[in-house]
Amino acid sequence: MNKFDIAVIPGDGIGPEVIAEGVKLLRVLSEIDKTIEFNFSYFPWGCEYYLKHGKMMADDGIEQLSKFDAIYLGAVGYPGVPDHISLWDLLLIIRQSFDQYVNLRPIRLLNGAPKRLIGAEQKDIQMTCVRENSEGEYSGIGNHLYKGKPEEVVIQNSIFSRRGTERIMRYAFELARKEKKSLTSISKANALNHSMVFWDAVFDELSEEYPDVATHSYLVDAAAMLMLTNPKRFEIVVTTNLFGDILTDVGAAIAGGIGLATGANINPEGKFPSMFEPVHGSAPDIAHQQKANPLATIWSAAQMVEHLGYPEHSENIIQAIELTLQEGKFLTKDLNGASSTNEVGDAVIRHFKSLY
Ligand code: NAI
Ligand code: MG
Repeated sequence: MNKFDIAVIPGDGIGPEVIAEGVKLLRVLSEIDKTIEFNFSYFPWGCEYYLKHGKMMADDGIEQLSKFDAIYLGAVGYPGVPDHISLWDLLLIIRQSFDQYVNLRPIRLLNGAPKRLIGAEQKDIQMTCVRENSEGEYSGIGNHLYKGKPEEVVIQNSIFSRRGTERIMRYAFELARKEKKSLTSISKANALNHSMVFWDAVFDELSEEYPDVATHSYLVDAAAMLMLTNPKRFEIVVTTNLFGDILTDVGAAIAGGIGLATGANINPEGKFPSMFEPVHGSAPDIAHQQKANPLATIWSAAQMVEHLGYPEHSENIIQAIELTLQEGKFLTKDLNGASSTNEVGDAVIRHFKSLY
């Protein structure tokens, strides 16, 4: 018997609705495979908590979470709390404290997912984005001086350390080697003449250690265009925190929409828990109405299950999502359906059970 303690942070808006469907599926998995047991502990942190307590999470929140095998998060952010507070004081603090320096985002057009990019087939959109997740443009370093005065100055610095740059690239090279795929680095060395020149140099250095991995290097603006005009060029992609954030939303758009995009925040050494979450936010416009698509959050449960050591179960969860998409009967409005969040979750479970 393998017991896993999972910290669940449903968060705000549609977070609790989509997380409920993922947890439901994980419970079914542990019924099917009796060697797996999940223990879920819920944390009420988020914007509502902030409005009551003046903080996004408990003071010893990071210490509490450190004891878990994984963290499962819905989304954070809600009108009434500035986004930079809700993002920094919960999500980004967890990513940094637990050194979750890999943000692994599959951009995979699943079987049955809407083909929104004209001319692109399923086989053409099969990439994995390895986004740097601990430093870069989101290091949070800077200052805001002379607020409201004519001499007002804002500074937002980026940090690119050798350690941080090498480790994210090494992770991507290892993944490309394992999956026998090409690796593309995306940067912007023509304009960012310090940080991105360094990034490119480190990428070139590491390529020599991996002669078996075919490599490419693109500027981010060209890469954004190529993702739309020729997505099959990209297999494994490694890029910075900011570029990865933006490009993976482009990726979501071409791979079925934001309701299908997932991302894992991984601490590869396993020293700290990793965190699994959909890419989308709390969608206040459709919150509390059972309108949210839970498929991204269910896919992130698949990423968690893979991380915990069960790749076959993980593939089955993804296949159950595909079967649900192909059946086409139980989908939310964003996928041109009329079903509730809960009904979609039930459909995935029905297909999931059929695979055993
Ligand atoms: P969003 O992703 O919440 O919503 C963008 C659009 O996509 C909305 O029209 C929404 O209805 C739709 N949408 C999102 N998820 C959906 C789903 N599962 N099913 C169907 N439709 C879905 O991004 P937005 O509006 O920019 O941000 C809303 C709040 O979420 C903000 O407070 C923001 O800071 C926060 N946010 C949090 C993130 C996180 O927790 N990881 C990531 C992005 C934003
Ligand atoms: Mg984003």
